[in-house]
Amino acid sequence: MRLLVPGGAGFIGSEFVRQTVANHPVDTVVVLDKLTYAGNLHNLDPVAGHPNLSFVHGDICDAELVSHLAAGADAVVNFAAESHVDRSLEAPGQFIQTDVYGTYVLLEAARRAGHGRFLQVSTDEVYGDVAEGASAETDPLRPRSPYSASKAGAELMVWAYRASYDMPVVVTRGSNTYGPYQYPEKIIPLFITNAIDDLPLPIYGDGSAVRDYLHVSDHARGIDTALRFGTPGEDYNIGHGGETSGIEVADRVLAALSKPASLKEHVSDRLGHDHRYALDTLKLRALGWQPQVGFGGGLEDTVSWYRDNEPWWRPLKSGEFWDFYRRNYKPLRAATGQVS
Ligand code: NAD
Ligand code: DAU
Repeated sequence: MRLLVPGGAGFIGSEFVRQTVANHPVDTVVVLDKLTYAGNLHNLDPVAGHPNLSFVHGDICDAELVSHLAAGADAVVNFAAESHVDRSLEAPGQFIQTDVYGTYVLLEAARRAGHGRFLQVSTDEVYGDVAEGASAETDPLRPRSPYSASKAGAELMVWAYRASYDMPVVVTRGSNTYGPYQYPEKIIPLFITNAIDDLPLPIYGDGSAVRDYLHVSDHARGIDTALRFGTPGEDYNIGHGGETSGIEVADRVLAALSKPASLKEHVSDRLGHDHRYALDTLKLRALGWQPQVGFGGGLEDTVSWYRDNEPWWRPLKSGEFWDFYRRNYKPLRAATGQVS
């Protein structure tokens, strides 16, 4: 296959690219990435120079560029998005632009190029807060944040292209993902890198909200399974199956780094904070996928990775990172010398 991978320099996209190069050496991969604050060419260092991999610096909203690239592709696997809920609460516009409009531009280019497979990487957050039980693919989409509403909007456009033009689309809905190469704004890399630097771990509200943490290698393998074995017109949940609270994430990170509990700091809750997501993953499991990385071991390995790869993350925690941090974590301003 010739794959076009928008967002392939981000966290999950780059894992997908690294896996594809290793596991499907005859496939060609073109990464299209705008290299926003969250995109990072170093994420592709392990596969740099591979003869079947090329990189294009550009925006998925650029219809001319995207049409040109889609014309040579058998499949589009779209990871490109603004991905951080807290940033969407501060400035929703860029989320609508990239996540909704950008997905439309990609769909339209794929349609004109001749109906290659289109895999849209979506999220469990489109189901909204789930008080009990687990979301099945047939459940309604009830997004509650500007981020998840943008991802749901993108999905609805994907389903519209399916219904209107019979495009062979597949959607995956993954749960909260962690592992190497994750920009340190999300809870796990933020808590790890803050703890390494003896900075407070900012826990939203009472820290009881839970997430189903999924290792990035399992998420990328799930996307690959859905791409190659999924049925066109179908959606597939990808989750690990656990429920871990914010407090527990903090405790586990501090234990792994032998840091004191006094680094835990409760801060103002996220606006509209979804308390829980949970996924029924039977549909993807029926295609032969199952998660391979347990949360305990996966988190310890991730802590080790950040401890061993300071040259990757330390330059990211500067400038714009602290500007956002200062705005998002106002109660911490006095506590962290770095953000005052
Ligand atoms: P990320 O923020 O690490 O990476 C996003 C990538 O998209 C970056 O490389 C960025 O430069 C690129 N990008 C952003 N806007 C672009 C544009 N206009 N044109 C081209 N490239 C652009 O995100 P991630 O965590 O790797 O998430 C990847 C996808 O998976 C997203 O669609 C996200 O919604 C979805 N998802 C993420 C998680 C998670 O926990 N991280 C879970 C489920 C689904
Ligand atoms: O579930 C899939 C989603 O997971 C993806 O679609 C998103 O792209 C990804 O960012 C992630 O969203 P979350 O909002 O779940 O991830 P985040 O790491 O921002 O927050 C996880 C939990 O931790 C949530 O309950 C809020 C809490 N939290 C988060 C941060 C950043 C804190 O307590 N403190 C923090 O500083």
